[in-house]
Amino acid sequence: MEQKLNEISLQAGREIITAATQEELRQIQVRYLGKKGEITTILRGMGQLAPEQRPLVGSLANRVRDELSEMIDSRTEELKEVLRRQRMAEQRVDVTLPGRPVNIGYRHPLSIIMEQIAEIFLGLGFTIAEGPEIESDYYNFEALNLPQDHPAREMQDSFYIRPDILLRTHTSPVQVRTMEKTAPQAPVRIIAPGKVYRRDDDATHSPMFHQVEGLVIDRNISLSDLKGTLLLFAQQMFGAKQQVRLRPSFFPFTEPSAEVDMSCVMCGGGGCRVCKDSGWIEILGSGMVHPNVLAMSGYDPEEFTGYAFGMGVERIAMLKYGIDDLRQFFTNDFRMLRQFR
Ligand code: PHE
Repeated sequence: MEQKLNEISLQAGREIITAATQEELRQIQVRYLGKKGEITTILRGMGQLAPEQRPLVGSLANRVRDELSEMIDSRTEELKEVLRRQRMAEQRVDVTLPGRPVNIGYRHPLSIIMEQIAEIFLGLGFTIAEGPEIESDYYNFEALNLPQDHPAREMQDSFYIRPDILLRTHTSPVQVRTMEKTAPQAPVRIIAPGKVYRRDDDATHSPMFHQVEGLVIDRNISLSDLKGTLLLFAQQMFGAKQQVRLRPSFFPFTEPSAEVDMSCVMCGGGGCRVCKDSGWIEILGSGMVHPNVLAMSGYDPEEFTGYAFGMGVERIAMLKYGIDDLRQFFTNDFRMLRQFR
């Protein structure tokens, strides 16, 4: 019996040491120490032994049982540790790997230009006004001296939502909204940047584009105030050598009206392909606020005069950055956009 116990002890010990998983250990435990395990069976069969053998075999069996269960415990701990190390190795982070660059957002070239324009006029004492992009016929046309059926409405092919509501075709309605709020106080000195919409779509026209409107109203405002302000704007935006000239034009809401040209940014005035050899480039429409417009919005045209202008932001940006297709602004191609960081 003693020999049998020693053999069991040796055999079980070997199995425990070489066990590779906790499940194997559990099976070994059942096989030797479980209810029907080999050691347990021997302990149960003690009664059949000669009385003088019992204490000896009994204590040996108990010792073997204790030793084995201790071995199983420590092997279990070992296997747990191995498992833990394995997991750590699998989850290890290589801190020497180069990082993945995070794409940081940046402003759209049109936003940059709009802010530069605003900056210049803020420096001249203008404030910023805003109006809705969904506008009533009254503010977009009627109050700007463009009554129903006026042929000049065709200058601005429009998106109508209802017969009396449309996407604003220009920022000029903000002139009216501002005057209504301020009249009869003076001076008024605002710019109104924002989106406008027209049914146009080609290399130089987009159905949505941006304008910055300007409006000044006070006593004794004259065309020379307009010209001086725009000259200063052109010089701050495009360089101190810039000149501006006014060309007679027509807008229903200004009288007289003028297109404003500045020296060609490409050739400096000498003549080139961009300015079609004229040396000048058109940058905006402008004029003295029409007496009807002043009167409709609450200013006495006998007492007050004013000037207004509206420039296309895309056009300014194209000239500033040398971009030749307006659609570039709206295709969201990072290769183009990231150049303006
Ligand atoms: N609103 C005109 C346009 O979009 C521009 C303009 C504004 C002209 C103010 C004169 C005065 O074409």
